[in-house]
Amino acid sequence: MIGPRYTPLVASLPETVPFVGPETQERLRGRPFRARIGANESVFGPSPRAVAAMRAEANEVWKYGDAQNHELRQALAAHHGVAAENIIVGEGIDGLLGYLTRLVVAPGDAVVTSDGAYPTFNYHVAGFGGVLHKVPYRDDREDLEALIARARDVAPKLIYLANPDNPMGTAHPAASVAAMVTEVPEGSLLILDEAYIEFAPDGLAPRIDPADPRVIRMRTFSKGYGMAGARVGYAIGAPDLIGAFDKIRNHFGMSRISQAGALAALEDQAHLAQVRAQVAAARDRLAAIAAENGLAALPSATNFVAIDCGADGDFARRVLAELVARDIFVRMPFVAPQDRCIRVSCAPETEMAAFAETLPQALAAARAG
Ligand SMILES: Cc1ncc(COP(=O)(O)O)c(C=O)c1O
Repeated sequence: MIGPRYTPLVASLPETVPFVGPETQERLRGRPFRARIGANESVFGPSPRAVAAMRAEANEVWKYGDAQNHELRQALAAHHGVAAENIIVGEGIDGLLGYLTRLVVAPGDAVVTSDGAYPTFNYHVAGFGGVLHKVPYRDDREDLEALIARARDVAPKLIYLANPDNPMGTAHPAASVAAMVTEVPEGSLLILDEAYIEFAPDGLAPRIDPADPRVIRMRTFSKGYGMAGARVGYAIGAPDLIGAFDKIRNHFGMSRISQAGALAALEDQAHLAQVRAQVAAARDRLAAIAAENGLAALPSATNFVAIDCGADGDFARRVLAELVARDIFVRMPFVAPQDRCIRVSCAPETEMAAFAETLPQALAAARAG
Protein backbone atom coordinates (compact mmCIF):
# COMPACT_ATOMS: atom_id res chain seq x y z
CA MET A 1 0.00 0.00 0.00
CA ILE A 2 1.43 3.35 -1.04
CA GLY A 3 -0.99 5.44 1.03
CA PRO A 4 -1.73 9.06 0.26
CA ARG A 5 1.05 10.67 -1.77
CA TYR A 6 1.46 13.98 -0.02
CA THR A 7 2.82 16.95 -1.91
CA PRO A 8 6.52 17.50 -1.22
CA LEU A 9 5.53 20.67 0.64
CA VAL A 10 3.10 18.88 2.96
CA ALA A 11 5.53 16.02 3.46
CA SER A 12 8.13 18.55 4.57
CA LEU A 13 5.89 20.27 7.14
CA PRO A 14 6.33 19.56 10.84
CA GLU A 15 3.29 18.26 12.73
CA THR A 16 2.33 21.50 14.42
CA VAL A 17 -0.86 23.02 15.69
CA PRO A 18 -0.79 26.75 16.31
CA PHE A 19 -2.62 26.39 19.63
CA VAL A 20 -3.61 23.53 21.89
CA GLY A 21 -7.27 24.30 22.56
CA PRO A 22 -8.77 24.39 26.06
CA GLU A 23 -10.99 21.38 25.31
CA THR A 24 -7.91 19.34 24.36
CA GLN A 25 -6.30 20.42 27.61
CA GLU A 26 -9.41 19.47 29.57
CA ARG A 27 -9.43 16.01 28.00
CA LEU A 28 -5.76 15.54 28.84
CA ARG A 29 -6.28 16.77 32.40
CA GLY A 30 -9.46 14.75 32.90
CA ARG A 31 -11.37 17.69 34.37
CA PRO A 32 -12.81 21.02 33.26
CA PHE A 33 -11.30 24.44 33.83
CA ARG A 34 -12.86 26.67 36.47
CA ALA A 35 -12.07 29.86 34.56
CA ARG A 36 -11.66 29.93 30.78
CA ILE A 37 -9.59 33.10 30.44
CA GLY A 38 -6.82 32.04 28.06
CA ALA A 39 -8.04 32.37 24.48
CA ASN A 40 -9.14 36.03 24.39
CA GLU A 41 -12.71 34.99 23.84
CA SER A 42 -15.37 37.41 25.04
CA VAL A 43 -16.54 35.75 28.23
CA PHE A 44 -19.23 38.46 28.40
CA GLY A 45 -20.97 36.68 25.55
CA PRO A 46 -22.85 37.73 22.43
CA SER A 47 -25.79 40.09 22.06
CA PRO A 48 -29.07 38.46 23.16
CA ARG A 49 -30.42 39.66 19.81
CA ALA A 50 -27.72 37.67 18.01
CA VAL A 51 -28.59 34.59 20.08
CA ALA A 52 -32.29 35.02 19.21
CA ALA A 53 -31.47 35.39 15.51
CA MET A 54 -29.33 32.25 15.58
CA ARG A 55 -32.05 30.29 17.38
CA ALA A 56 -34.60 31.35 14.79
CA GLU A 57 -32.26 30.53 11.91
CA ALA A 58 -31.68 27.03 13.28
CA ASN A 59 -35.04 26.06 11.76
CA GLU A 60 -33.70 26.99 8.32
CA VAL A 61 -30.49 25.07 8.70
CA TRP A 62 -31.49 22.57 6.04
CA LYS A 63 -30.55 25.29 3.54
CA TYR A 64 -26.98 26.21 2.66
CA GLY A 65 -25.99 29.71 3.63
CA ASP A 66 -26.01 32.53 1.07
CA ALA A 67 -22.72 31.94 -0.74
CA GLN A 68 -22.35 35.67 -1.35
CA ASN A 69 -23.04 36.67 2.26
CA HIS A 70 -25.09 39.39 0.62
CA GLU A 71 -27.04 40.80 3.55
CA LEU A 72 -24.10 40.76 5.92
CA ARG A 73 -21.81 42.41 3.36
CA GLN A 74 -24.39 45.12 2.68
CA ALA A 75 -24.74 45.78 6.40
CA LEU A 76 -20.97 45.82 6.93
CA ALA A 77 -20.54 48.15 3.95
CA ALA A 78 -23.05 50.58 5.44
CA HIS A 79 -21.41 50.27 8.86
CA HIS A 80 -17.97 51.13 7.49
CA GLY A 81 -19.02 53.58 4.78
CA VAL A 82 -17.54 51.47 1.98
CA ALA A 83 -19.02 49.50 -0.92
CA ALA A 84 -20.01 45.83 -0.64
CA GLU A 85 -17.34 45.16 -3.31
CA ASN A 86 -14.76 46.16 -0.71
CA ILE A 87 -15.83 43.40 1.68
CA ILE A 88 -15.20 39.67 1.81
CA VAL A 89 -16.79 37.58 4.57
CA GLY A 90 -15.14 34.36 5.64
CA GLU A 91 -14.66 31.77 8.34
CA GLY A 92 -13.09 34.10 10.87
CA ILE A 93 -9.92 36.07 10.33
CA ASP A 94 -8.11 32.74 10.52
CA GLY A 95 -9.97 31.47 7.46
CA LEU A 96 -9.37 34.71 5.58
CA LEU A 97 -5.66 34.67 6.43
CA GLY A 98 -5.49 31.19 4.92
CA TYR A 99 -7.27 32.30 1.74
CA LEU A 100 -5.14 35.41 1.39
CA THR A 101 -1.95 33.44 1.82
CA ARG A 102 -3.13 30.95 -0.77
CA LEU A 103 -3.90 33.83 -3.15
CA VAL A 104 -0.44 35.38 -3.08
CA VAL A 105 2.18 33.11 -1.50
CA ALA A 106 3.92 30.52 -3.68
CA PRO A 107 6.63 28.21 -2.31
CA GLY A 108 9.73 30.26 -1.54
CA ASP A 109 7.96 33.64 -1.39
CA ALA A 110 8.97 35.96 1.43
CA VAL A 111 6.54 37.07 4.15
CA VAL A 112 7.35 39.52 6.96
CA THR A 113 5.93 39.42 10.48
CA SER A 114 7.01 40.01 14.08
CA ASP A 115 8.72 37.34 16.13
CA GLY A 116 6.06 36.22 18.60
CA ALA A 117 3.08 37.71 16.72
CA TYR A 118 -0.12 35.78 15.96
CA PRO A 119 1.07 32.21 15.16
CA THR A 120 -1.93 31.07 13.12
CA PHE A 121 -0.77 33.39 10.34
CA ASN A 122 2.67 31.73 10.38
CA TYR A 123 0.98 28.35 10.18
CA HIS A 124 -0.82 29.36 6.97
CA VAL A 125 2.38 30.79 5.47
CA ALA A 126 4.22 27.54 6.19
CA GLY A 127 1.32 25.59 4.68
CA PHE A 128 1.76 27.35 1.34
CA GLY A 129 5.56 27.17 1.40
CA GLY A 130 6.22 30.82 2.21
CA VAL A 131 9.42 31.87 3.95
CA LEU A 132 8.85 33.85 7.13
CA HIS A 133 11.12 36.75 8.01
CA LYS A 134 10.56 37.89 11.60
CA VAL A 135 11.57 41.11 13.29
CA PRO A 136 11.68 41.47 17.08
CA TYR A 137 9.18 43.47 19.11
CA ARG A 138 10.40 46.78 20.48
CA ASP A 139 9.26 47.80 23.97
CA ASP A 140 6.59 45.06 23.85
CA ARG A 141 5.03 46.49 20.69
CA GLU A 142 5.28 45.34 17.10
CA ASP A 143 7.98 47.49 15.52
CA LEU A 144 6.51 49.27 12.51
CA GLU A 145 9.82 50.69 11.27
CA ALA A 146 11.56 47.32 11.56
CA LEU A 147 8.72 45.59 9.66
CA ILE A 148 9.05 48.09 6.80
CA ALA A 149 12.85 47.96 6.84
CA ARG A 150 12.78 44.16 6.56
CA ALA A 151 10.16 44.42 3.83
CA ARG A 152 12.51 46.67 1.86
CA ASP A 153 15.19 43.96 2.17
CA VAL A 154 13.21 40.85 1.27
CA ALA A 155 10.39 42.17 -0.98
CA PRO A 156 7.69 40.11 0.74
CA LYS A 157 4.32 39.28 -0.74
CA LEU A 158 2.73 39.95 2.67
CA ILE A 159 3.53 42.02 5.75
CA TYR A 160 1.54 41.17 8.87
CA LEU A 161 0.65 43.65 11.61
CA ALA A 162 -1.92 43.17 14.36
CA ASN A 163 -3.03 46.49 15.86
CA PRO A 164 -3.86 46.14 18.71
CA ASP A 165 -1.41 43.32 19.08
CA ASN A 166 -1.85 39.80 20.40
CA PRO A 167 -0.20 38.56 22.68
CA MET A 168 0.91 41.81 24.37
CA GLY A 169 -2.27 43.87 24.02
CA THR A 170 -0.27 46.94 23.03
CA ALA A 171 -1.16 49.26 20.14
CA HIS A 172 0.16 51.94 17.84
CA PRO A 173 -1.76 55.16 17.22
CA ALA A 174 -3.71 55.54 14.00
CA ALA A 175 -1.26 58.08 12.56
CA SER A 176 1.68 55.64 12.89
CA VAL A 177 -0.20 52.86 11.10
CA ALA A 178 -1.37 55.27 8.40
CA ALA A 179 2.24 56.38 7.92
CA MET A 180 3.33 52.74 7.70
CA VAL A 181 0.83 52.13 4.88
CA THR A 182 2.53 54.84 2.82
CA GLU A 183 5.86 53.00 3.26
CA VAL A 184 4.67 49.58 2.05
CA PRO A 185 7.05 48.63 -0.77
CA GLU A 186 5.71 48.17 -4.28
CA GLY A 187 4.48 44.59 -4.69
CA SER A 188 3.89 43.96 -0.98
CA LEU A 189 0.52 43.85 0.75
CA LEU A 190 0.06 44.89 4.38
CA ILE A 191 -2.38 42.78 6.40
CA LEU A 192 -3.74 45.00 9.13
CA ASP A 193 -5.31 42.56 11.59
CA GLU A 194 -7.75 44.53 13.74
CA ALA A 195 -9.27 41.58 15.59
CA TYR A 196 -9.32 43.56 18.86
CA ILE A 197 -10.17 47.00 17.51
CA GLU A 198 -13.57 47.15 19.23
CA PHE A 199 -11.81 47.22 22.62
CA ALA A 200 -9.31 49.91 21.67
CA PRO A 201 -9.66 53.61 22.46
CA ASP A 202 -11.75 55.49 19.92
CA GLY A 203 -9.73 56.70 16.97
CA LEU A 204 -7.14 53.90 17.01
CA ALA A 205 -8.22 52.57 13.61
CA PRO A 206 -6.58 54.64 10.88
CA ARG A 207 -8.62 56.02 8.02
CA ILE A 208 -7.67 53.92 4.99
CA ASP A 209 -8.94 54.41 1.47
CA PRO A 210 -10.76 51.11 0.78
CA ALA A 211 -9.40 51.24 -2.78
CA ASP A 212 -5.79 51.35 -1.55
CA PRO A 213 -4.14 48.22 -3.01
CA ARG A 214 -1.33 48.27 -0.42
CA VAL A 215 -3.43 47.17 2.55
CA ILE A 216 -6.17 44.77 3.54
CA ARG A 217 -7.76 45.19 6.96
CA MET A 218 -9.29 42.27 8.81
CA ARG A 219 -12.04 42.30 11.42
CA THR A 220 -13.93 39.63 13.31
CA PHE A 221 -17.11 38.86 15.20
CA SER A 222 -15.09 36.61 17.53
CA LYS A 223 -13.90 39.23 19.99
CA GLY A 224 -15.96 42.37 20.65
CA TYR A 225 -19.14 40.72 19.37
CA GLY A 226 -18.51 37.59 21.45
CA MET A 227 -19.13 35.04 18.69
CA ALA A 228 -15.83 33.12 18.36
CA GLY A 229 -17.66 29.82 17.95
CA ALA A 230 -19.71 31.13 15.02
CA ARG A 231 -16.57 31.75 12.89
CA VAL A 232 -17.38 35.01 11.16
CA GLY A 233 -14.70 37.42 10.01
CA TYR A 234 -14.38 39.90 7.20
CA ALA A 235 -11.79 41.86 5.31
CA ILE A 236 -11.96 45.29 3.74
CA GLY A 237 -9.81 45.96 0.69
CA ALA A 238 -9.54 47.02 -2.91
CA PRO A 239 -12.28 45.47 -5.12
CA ASP A 240 -9.80 43.52 -7.29
CA LEU A 241 -8.23 41.87 -4.28
CA ILE A 242 -11.61 41.19 -2.65
CA GLY A 243 -12.86 39.70 -5.92
CA ALA A 244 -9.85 37.40 -6.13
CA PHE A 245 -11.00 35.55 -3.00
CA ASP A 246 -13.87 34.17 -5.10
CA LYS A 247 -11.35 32.14 -7.10
CA ILE A 248 -10.31 30.01 -4.17
CA ARG A 249 -12.61 30.45 -1.19
CA ASN A 250 -15.00 27.85 0.12
CA HIS A 251 -18.17 29.43 -1.26
CA PHE A 252 -20.46 27.54 1.09
CA GLY A 253 -18.13 27.80 4.07
CA MET A 254 -20.37 30.10 6.12
CA SER A 255 -23.10 28.62 8.26
CA ARG A 256 -26.39 30.44 7.79
CA ILE A 257 -26.84 30.42 11.56
CA SER A 258 -23.60 32.38 11.85
CA GLN A 259 -24.61 34.75 9.06
CA ALA A 260 -27.88 35.56 10.86
CA GLY A 261 -26.11 35.93 14.20
CA ALA A 262 -23.46 38.29 12.85
CA LEU A 263 -26.07 40.48 11.18
CA ALA A 264 -28.05 40.81 14.41
CA ALA A 265 -24.87 41.39 16.43
CA LEU A 266 -23.81 44.22 14.13
CA GLU A 267 -27.22 45.83 14.58
CA ASP A 268 -26.87 45.71 18.37
CA GLN A 269 -24.18 48.33 18.88
CA ALA A 270 -25.58 49.02 22.35
CA HIS A 271 -24.49 45.54 23.44
CA LEU A 272 -21.03 46.14 22.02
CA ALA A 273 -20.78 49.40 23.97
CA GLN A 274 -21.77 47.58 27.15
CA VAL A 275 -19.15 44.88 26.56
CA ARG A 276 -16.51 47.56 25.92
CA ALA A 277 -17.29 49.09 29.31
CA GLN A 278 -17.24 45.69 31.03
CA VAL A 279 -13.91 44.85 29.41
CA ALA A 280 -12.42 48.20 30.45
CA ALA A 281 -13.47 47.50 34.06
CA ALA A 282 -12.05 43.96 33.89
CA ARG A 283 -8.73 45.30 32.56
CA ASP A 284 -8.53 47.54 35.64
CA ARG A 285 -9.43 44.59 37.84
CA LEU A 286 -6.64 42.49 36.30
CA ALA A 287 -4.16 45.34 36.77
CA ALA A 288 -5.21 45.58 40.42
CA ILE A 289 -4.84 41.81 40.91
CA ALA A 290 -1.36 42.00 39.37
CA ALA A 291 -0.42 44.90 41.67
CA GLU A 292 -1.71 43.07 44.77
CA ASN A 293 0.77 40.35 43.88
CA GLY A 294 3.65 42.74 43.28
CA LEU A 295 3.43 42.32 39.49
CA ALA A 296 2.92 44.85 36.71
CA ALA A 297 0.18 44.68 34.08
CA LEU A 298 1.00 46.05 30.64
CA PRO A 299 -1.34 48.69 29.26
CA SER A 300 -3.88 46.94 27.03
CA ALA A 301 -6.05 48.06 24.11
CA THR A 302 -7.65 44.60 23.93
CA ASN A 303 -9.82 42.23 26.00
CA PHE A 304 -6.80 40.66 27.65
CA VAL A 305 -3.94 41.80 29.81
CA ALA A 306 -0.31 40.72 29.72
CA ILE A 307 0.98 40.45 33.28
CA ASP A 308 4.73 40.71 33.71
CA CYS A 309 5.69 37.96 36.16
CA GLY A 310 8.86 39.86 36.99
CA ALA A 311 11.44 37.29 35.91
CA ASP A 312 12.28 35.21 32.82
CA GLY A 313 10.25 32.96 30.55
CA ASP A 314 10.97 29.85 32.62
CA PHE A 315 9.44 31.50 35.66
CA ALA A 316 6.36 32.70 33.75
CA ARG A 317 5.94 29.17 32.31
CA ARG A 318 5.98 27.80 35.86
CA VAL A 319 3.38 30.35 36.97
CA LEU A 320 1.23 29.37 33.99
CA ALA A 321 1.59 25.66 34.74
CA GLU A 322 0.61 26.24 38.37
CA LEU A 323 -2.46 28.23 37.30
CA VAL A 324 -3.48 25.48 34.87
CA ALA A 325 -2.92 22.86 37.58
CA ARG A 326 -5.41 24.88 39.69
CA ASP A 327 -7.97 24.86 36.83
CA ILE A 328 -7.36 28.39 35.54
CA PHE A 329 -6.89 28.40 31.74
CA VAL A 330 -4.51 31.15 30.67
CA ARG A 331 -1.85 31.39 27.97
CA MET A 332 1.37 33.29 27.48
CA PRO A 333 3.61 34.74 24.76
CA PHE A 334 5.98 32.28 23.11
CA VAL A 335 9.03 34.44 22.48
CA ALA A 336 11.58 36.13 24.82
CA PRO A 337 11.52 38.68 26.36
CA GLN A 338 7.71 38.84 25.96
CA ASP A 339 7.50 35.36 27.50
CA ARG A 340 8.18 36.90 30.92
CA CYS A 341 4.42 37.58 30.88
CA ILE A 342 1.25 35.55 31.22
CA ARG A 343 -1.79 36.66 29.21
CA VAL A 344 -5.19 36.75 30.89
CA SER A 345 -8.54 37.42 29.20
CA CYS A 346 -11.04 39.87 30.63
CA ALA A 347 -14.14 38.20 32.06
CA PRO A 348 -16.99 38.70 34.51
CA GLU A 349 -16.30 38.82 38.23
CA THR A 350 -16.67 35.05 38.82
CA GLU A 351 -13.64 34.34 36.65
CA MET A 352 -11.72 37.40 37.85
CA ALA A 353 -12.28 36.34 41.47
CA ALA A 354 -11.10 32.80 40.69
CA PHE A 355 -7.95 34.26 39.14
CA ALA A 356 -7.42 36.63 42.08
CA GLU A 357 -7.71 33.71 44.51
CA THR A 358 -5.41 31.42 42.54
CA LEU A 359 -2.62 33.73 41.37
CA PRO A 360 -0.95 34.07 44.82
CA GLN A 361 -0.91 30.26 45.17
CA ALA A 362 0.50 29.81 41.68
CA LEU A 363 3.21 32.42 42.30
CA ALA A 364 4.17 30.80 45.59
CA ALA A 365 4.34 27.37 43.98
CA ALA A 366 6.36 28.72 41.04
CA ARG A 367 8.81 30.42 43.41
CA ALA A 368 9.15 27.25 45.48
CA GLY A 369 9.71 25.14 42.33
C1 LIG B 1 -4.56 38.86 16.28
C2 LIG B 1 -5.63 37.85 16.01
N1 LIG B 1 -6.10 37.70 14.76
C3 LIG B 1 -7.06 36.81 14.47
C4 LIG B 1 -7.59 35.99 15.46
C5 LIG B 1 -8.62 34.97 15.07
O1 LIG B 1 -9.80 35.57 14.75
P1 LIG B 1 -11.02 34.69 14.18
O2 LIG B 1 -11.69 34.07 15.35
O3 LIG B 1 -11.84 35.70 13.47
O4 LIG B 1 -10.44 33.66 13.27
C6 LIG B 1 -7.14 36.10 16.76
C7 LIG B 1 -7.69 35.22 17.81
O5 LIG B 1 -7.23 35.07 18.87
C8 LIG B 1 -6.13 37.05 17.05
O6 LIG B 1 -5.64 37.15 18.26
